[in-house]
Amino acid sequence: MCGIVGYIGGGSAGAKRIVTDGLKRLEYRGYDSAGIALAVNGRLVVEKAVGRIANLEEILKASPVDSHAGIGHTRWATHGAPSQANAHPHTNADGSIAIVHNGIIENYAELKERLIAEHGVSFRSETDSEIAAHLIGLFYKGDLLAAVREAVREMRGAYSICAMAAAEPDRIVAVRKDAPLIAGIGENCNFLASDIPALLKHARMIYLIENNETVLVTRNDITIFNERMEAVKRDVFHVTWDADAAEKGGYDHFMRKEIFEQPAGIAETLNRRLDEKGEIKLDGISLTKEDLDRIDRIYIVACGTASHAGLVGKFAIERFARIPTETDIASEFRYREPYIDDRTLFVCISQSGETLDTLAALREAKSRGARVLSVVNVVGSSVARESDDVFYTWAGPEIAVASTKAFTTQLVCMYLLALYMGRTRGVLSDAEYARVLSELSQMPDKLTALLEDEPKIRDIAKKVYKNENIFFIGRGSDVSVALEGSLKLKEISYIHSFAIAAGELKHGTIALIEQGSLVIVLASQDRLFEKLLSNIEEVKARGAYVIGLAKAGNREIEKRSDEVIYIPACADEVTPILAVVPLQLLAYHVAKLRGCDIDKPKNLAKAVTVE
Ligand code: AGP
Repeated sequence: MCGIVGYIGGGSAGAKRIVTDGLKRLEYRGYDSAGIALAVNGRLVVEKAVGRIANLEEILKASPVDSHAGIGHTRWATHGAPSQANAHPHTNADGSIAIVHNGIIENYAELKERLIAEHGVSFRSETDSEIAAHLIGLFYKGDLLAAVREAVREMRGAYSICAMAAAEPDRIVAVRKDAPLIAGIGENCNFLASDIPALLKHARMIYLIENNETVLVTRNDITIFNERMEAVKRDVFHVTWDADAAEKGGYDHFMRKEIFEQPAGIAETLNRRLDEKGEIKLDGISLTKEDLDRIDRIYIVACGTASHAGLVGKFAIERFARIPTETDIASEFRYREPYIDDRTLFVCISQSGETLDTLAALREAKSRGARVLSVVNVVGSSVARESDDVFYTWAGPEIAVASTKAFTTQLVCMYLLALYMGRTRGVLSDAEYARVLSELSQMPDKLTALLEDEPKIRDIAKKVYKNENIFFIGRGSDVSVALEGSLKLKEISYIHSFAIAAGELKHGTIALIEQGSLVIVLASQDRLFEKLLSNIEEVKARGAYVIGLAKAGNREIEKRSDEVIYIPACADEVTPILAVVPLQLLAYHVAKLRGCDIDKPKNLAKAVTVE
């Protein structure tokens, strides 16, 4: 996902440093090049660099140029390889317009053809984004705001764009459709950005820009316009995040910091939802018995880690609320003509709230009459704003690309939702409700105790980090944990790992198990433990090296495994919250031993805002 920063202030300097600082705060979104455009004496000066922002800073340090106004960009390639030419900002032919863009212009090919054929435009990059610079330049008649509106009328797709005109050095215009954009109120200056951390150092009062809105930003004013170019009133959103919350706080990686923040995140997500009588409050979500009795189908739709939380959510909802529940990954859901009507509850889970596949699936479900409830970690994100109800995970800012604390707090939200629905429908006994709620409330302490076993996990990592193939198997809700543990390992250590339901092994995959194959067996469910023992025998018979994960006190697993990881004893229904944590730590330490870029893995972005 690309990152955008815009700044306009007084005097004749400051923009260079403020914009590049802001870009550095967006590094976690994943990128391969960066650039900046500055308004200087009636011209737009553009500097770009491939690779880290430090490369761009080197170039800027060597240049005496500075400005009171600038826009910057970190690029995560979608169209065109990472290169100087493809880096943003892009300009029109005479350099009088500069833009930075996040998203995808889906009809860029036809627009490019038209600009070449009808206007003789010559393109300098392979990107879709460059189109925007030429289109705005084409429509520019001395009013940047009007030119931007004209240009985006021609464009289809997802974009947040910031534009500057050499002839209007005291204003920046931005426009948003399906890609995040915020405006920040500074002291005698104002800001634009894709995400809060970029401007947190300078602005805590922000405007969340909605879809199809255009923003005119000057040093003293921020004006938001709707599609009909009418100025709209927008409440200011006060950002309470402490800037340090997004810092590493003493850990050497955001990921490890966030793994250790899980007890607090779970406690936060839980406690604010239980009233003094221990009843669950879904903060403003009104799902009455009538509502729930009318619902005859629930879809839980998400991507990546969030989809694994959805699998656990399915177990929990069918177990406690007794409502038929289906899960799907968002990129498939939106194209499979799903059966949806006004008796469907569509639950989407998203840490960032900006994943385009998830957002598109949400819109598809909404357009067919479903009620949409989203579980989101970023307040005011697109998914949150387009849902009928939002159930926030209070994990705090998750910076590492590999999601950890968002996942476990998503699980807690799914359990709370399931218990609430079961209780409200009258299909869950008071005793069961109280039992599971009590299990959940013990999670923060059990997780804290589990994290103290990190040295054991680090020792296991030392034994296994050279493996190039690792298998994860489990049954029941441990399948979701196996999928999540495998994804963590893949995305930060680049080891090929594979997760499969243990019962499926014999239907083909076991052909891959040979002498020395590393198999991680998740056996946390008491009721399925015997079955897992036979799966351990199956793979051991073919020479596998087995790491077994089970509840504390389980001696049997020790007899059958080469290594054992224990989690604190707890009810079968809630083991995923604990079982995933040793796998997060294992992935972390393996990646560290392999010298990988843990917080910013190659090819990945924190929020995938492209299809
Ligand atoms: C998880 O570690 C990955 N970064 C990725 O699978 C992520 O979960 C997925 O892209 C969904 O992101 P979201 O939760 O922000 O929608």
